[in-house]
Amino acid sequence: MAEVVIVDSADAAGELAADAIGHLVVGNPDAVLGLATGSTPLTTWRALAARDLDLSRVRGFALDEYVGLPPGHPQSYRSVITREVVEPLGLTPSLVRVPGDEGPIEFAGEDYERALVAAGGVDLQVLGIGRTGHIGFNEPGSSFASRTRVKTLTEQTRRDNARFFDSIDDVPMHCITQGLGTILRARHLVLLAFGEAKAEALAGAVEGPVTASLPASAVQLHARVTVIVDEAAASRLAHADYYRYAWEHRLDWERP
Ligand code: GLP
Repeated sequence: MAEVVIVDSADAAGELAADAIGHLVVGNPDAVLGLATGSTPLTTWRALAARDLDLSRVRGFALDEYVGLPPGHPQSYRSVITREVVEPLGLTPSLVRVPGDEGPIEFAGEDYERALVAAGGVDLQVLGIGRTGHIGFNEPGSSFASRTRVKTLTEQTRRDNARFFDSIDDVPMHCITQGLGTILRARHLVLLAFGEAKAEALAGAVEGPVTASLPASAVQLHARVTVIVDEAAASRLAHADYYRYAWEHRLDWERP
């Protein structure tokens, strides 16, 4: 089962996730980091930026991107990743890829899969979770074997993401996202969730049946998953007491 760590705040979660990333990069300066957008990972990026770490050799692969936004649109995930991750963390822009950033979109999924394989795969993938239970942009019904491909967003996700745009009409209908099968190939998954709005999806992902109806439940099939959540996001977990107990009694060498 996933290791679930329940913390007091999103800031505390960001510090723990930054510990895991920092440990990885100190051991391997050329590590491959799976990058997530959205508001959830922001405290992780902030905590990492505050550390004295050289991340210039780290290779980055974003999870997903909108399809149909004009190049350079401030809400494209390429722009978000540049603004919130590449620049503050001192990553090298040419080492960071976003799906759909090269060549015609119909071949972009396969190209991205090839680039991931050529890089040796993702060492640590940071994940948020959507209220529909999506990870990346894998909406309910996504195959657990899926690879990077173009998908249609649900209305719920478009509504949730409308806060980043002037109106919901400006939120693209389509996206390109790593598949669940792609995400499951990463060697370590770090799933973050904060706030009551995520509690139901999170409980389903960690404790519910493994089902394509809740794509994040795919993480139960992975051998190394760290789930870092605040109290509100943990509020529907049936085994929260055990997770707290296990974390309090973790062994000296255990880390997120
Ligand atoms: C977005 C992204 C996901 C993200 C999720 C949650 O639509 N495609 O990668 O994890 O929804 O977003 P937030 O962290 O802002 O709640």
